[in-house]
Amino acid sequence: MKITVIGTGYVGLVSGACLAEMGNHVLCLDVDPRKIDVLNGGGIPIHEPGLDSVVARNVAAGRLQFTTDVAASVAHGTLQFIAVGTPPDEDGSADLQYVLAAARNIGRLMTDYKLVIDKSTVPVGTADKVKAAIQAELDARGVTLEFSVASNPEFLKEGAAVEDFMKPDRIVVGAEGERAISLLRAVYAPFQRNRDKLVVMDVRSAELTKYAANAMLATRISFMNELALLAENLGADIELVRQGIGSDPRIGYHFLYAGCGYGGSCFPKDVKALIRTASESGRDLKVLQAVEDANDAQKQVLVHKIVKRFGEDLAGKRFAVWGLAFKPNTDDMREASARVLIGELLSRGATVTAYDPVAMTEARRIFGDEPRIGYAENPDEALVGADALAIVTEWKEFRSPDFARIANTLKTPVIFDGRNLYEPKVVRDAGIDYQPIGRV
Ligand SMILES: NC(=O)c1ccc[n+]([C@@H]2O[C@H](COP(=O)([O-])OP(=O)(O)OC[C@H]3O[C@@H](n4cnc5c(N)ncnc54)[C@H](O)[C@@H]3O)[C@@H](O)[C@H]2O)c1
Repeated sequence: MKITVIGTGYVGLVSGACLAEMGNHVLCLDVDPRKIDVLNGGGIPIHEPGLDSVVARNVAAGRLQFTTDVAASVAHGTLQFIAVGTPPDEDGSADLQYVLAAARNIGRLMTDYKLVIDKSTVPVGTADKVKAAIQAELDARGVTLEFSVASNPEFLKEGAAVEDFMKPDRIVVGAEGERAISLLRAVYAPFQRNRDKLVVMDVRSAELTKYAANAMLATRISFMNELALLAENLGADIELVRQGIGSDPRIGYHFLYAGCGYGGSCFPKDVKALIRTASESGRDLKVLQAVEDANDAQKQVLVHKIVKRFGEDLAGKRFAVWGLAFKPNTDDMREASARVLIGELLSRGATVTAYDPVAMTEARRIFGDEPRIGYAENPDEALVGADALAIVTEWKEFRSPDFARIANTLKTPVIFDGRNLYEPKVVRDAGIDYQPIGRV
């Protein structure tokens, strides 16, 4: 099949590469010429495990190409996947300007049937707006051409995106009309050879399904974070509580880890957008508002612990920070808890030496030439000259450190662990003041 993917970011690039891997001819469009230059030069603009080899293989086979040429991208694919960003607007609603710009381009330039597929996470009703935008352009041109608009929300996780796309749990398709549904069935057939994973529904339900999934996951995290703070008050251990409840199959173990708050490009914005969609339709989502408030508060938890230990004024103190990405296996720092922590530490007069296996380039871009942030080559180097260590991302390489060495290197051996990586007794036996979240 000939497929165009509009927006070559985390979702667009992974989708395009994986669709090419199945033998399709894929053209990925982006408005950012630097991104396309990197890709055309053989590079990968993001860190995503396994993506480089899939991209390289399919580029070499001539099935995957990258362009900034809008006319070429509209001409190429019968299927036009829209995978552009949908960042939060000032009021929390999803900003649809990029989605609608993509739709207008299609309407302005198409000359034959197109199936336009919203893969970006978009509020309920967006497919109607996309349809109207395309139709308005066709009307302006005075031409009549057939097209369909479908919703196919993406559930991949950064850090495991290729694996998720190649072996999805489910493929949600919101579409009307046999032509659109059978095209989507055909394109996804290679990804579901062992069982039918396509869940076909109406467009609005598909749009809502994506938000419902992210809102549920965010709810589990905020729920556990609040319980973790309660556990601290009560002298209970949230990790034992997690194991105690996770063993109930109705609950399960996933997404029950207490920590210093969720971040990333999806949960924060999607929770906000769903709250906004609900209030526009006259409904207050009280649970979800609490989920967001609890998460905002949780991003301050490490700061509170640090202030309790070292006082409000942190002038002259240096903190080692392990982990900058919002989660392991990605360089994405959108809404990362590390940004909140580092911002607070600097505003209280402290300096920071940070280490992250892949996100330091992104951190340098975000923090610019801020002189109070230094970057270390490895976790040990970050500890040198530091008063204490704060852990913000649960990278595997942080899981089994030499605690004696940490105790000897830090000026005051304290670890503020925002991801509960260690057995408290083991760390404390090494002479370190260990401060996890919700653990005794
Ligand atoms: N990142 C994730 O883990 C994830 C998972 C599931 C769903 N989503 C959703 O997918 C969408 C994309 O997310 P992302 O993380 O890939 O974003 P991203 O910011 O990494 O990529 C979006 C890309 O679209 C490009 N773009 C913007 N307007 C364009 C236009 N008119 N034509 C062509 N390209 C254009 C941008 O330059 C950018 O490269 C969002 O709606 C997001 O909520 C993301």
